[in-house]
Amino acid sequence: MLGAMDAARSMEGTRSQRAWAAVDWTGAVPQAELIAVEHYAVAGLASLDPAARVRFSHLATCHTCELFIHFERYLIEYVERHAHALPGGARRWRWFIDEERRHAAAFRRLLTRIRPELYPAGEPRFMRWTRADDALVAVTRPVPFFLLAALFEEITLWMPRLMAEAPVHDPTLLEVMALHADEERRHIALDQWVLRDARDHMSPWRVRVDVWSTLPLLVHCDRRARAGWRRMIDQLAAETGIDANVFEARGASLSDRRGMASFAAQLRTLELAGGAGLASLLERVAAR
Ligand SMILES: [Fe+2]
Ligand SMILES: [Fe+2]
Repeated sequence: MLGAMDAARSMEGTRSQRAWAAVDWTGAVPQAELIAVEHYAVAGLASLDPAARVRFSHLATCHTCELFIHFERYLIEYVERHAHALPGGARRWRWFIDEERRHAAAFRRLLTRIRPELYPAGEPRFMRWTRADDALVAVTRPVPFFLLAALFEEITLWMPRLMAEAPVHDPTLLEVMALHADEERRHIALDQWVLRDARDHMSPWRVRVDVWSTLPLLVHCDRRARAGWRRMIDQLAAETGIDANVFEARGASLSDRRGMASFAAQLRTLELAGGAGLASLLERVAAR
């Protein structure tokens, strides 16, 4: 049985490789909003002239790509380090790591494509990996980690849906977001499998403690994202002369809010001890 599943996974791997190799990268980056600036809950957008809006959108899109790369690094490093202790064993997780590596490579390529002079090698510059990120990977228990993973992955599913509701100025960006979301659906199924396995094998009090220990992780990730946003805004200020302080404070983006709400709905169906409470909290944040 496991052999048949592994064979199916390896076919998936080939399909994924082919799909990413087929992405059309040839189109020039349009001098237009890539992700609409309204996607980001920032005050002061009305004060931007059309050229500054485009520059804002290009840099904010880069920040979003960097966030994805940062989160995918959590996933890659966590699974590489802990796969032997996860349900299914290390071999079952190989395809997951391979897909996340392909995703990170695609987002790096987007960075270089959007702002080649800022990203000659596609390395993130606003999001920085710190020792606190190493610690997160090293010590987080599977339940909070896979809750965090499922929330992040759920948020990424909303990107192509929301982008398609606005005028699409960059087909390549939409194609990458859509292909990424296709593969993330399978990852979310795997996250949920880990969470159900924990629910069925751990004591409810241990699950409850684990579920609520997701909160400090969320706070950590929010702080990392905000620090990256500030660096991005400083770059925008250096390029356009805008007042960086006006754009520093931001609320949850549209994809964050939609993702939190749909993740909360799924969390309820998992029936984890403490899960309904965490779901209510996220729904309140999403509705703000
Ligand atoms: Fe991914
Ligand atoms: Fe993923």
